[in-house]
Amino acid sequence: QAATDHEAEDGTVSQGAVESNHTGYSGRGFVNFQVVTGAFVEFTVETSQPAHAKLDFRYALGATAARSLDISVNGDTVADDLSFPPTGAWTTWRTVSAQATLQAGQNKIRATTSSGDGPNLDKLTVTPTGPADSERP
Ligand code: GCU
Repeated sequence: QAATDHEAEDGTVSQGAVESNHTGYSGRGFVNFQVVTGAFVEFTVETSQPAHAKLDFRYALGATAARSLDISVNGDTVADDLSFPPTGAWTTWRTVSAQATLQAGQNKIRATTSSGDGPNLDKLTVTPTGPADSERP
């Protein structure tokens, strides 16, 4: 199955703003989280089969200290305090990855600030890596 891109600015945003004042983003912009723990972007990702997947979060972080996000899928934490290291500039974008198992149909993938502020979040790329265990013959 092919990888799919999901723009942060098209997700459900809680305590964050869609901005476009730093270049290099995809789509219409990126999400700038408020300086608060618990701010989130929730992506809705559809898959036809239960599948393992790699989640690549594209972000920029021009500050000097790493920030973290909790990643959950359908309410279950798949990465606790996932670290987003500084990228050197707000216009330099990199990816941080997590692994998850997706169910058939809709999946709610949420990235929530867990250290008081988050990186600027551009998009999520979901790459299926194989069928989930329940689907193996
Ligand atoms: C700067 C930058 C913002 C960023 C913020 C932060 O203000 O312009 O895009 O979100 O720092 O520290 O999070």
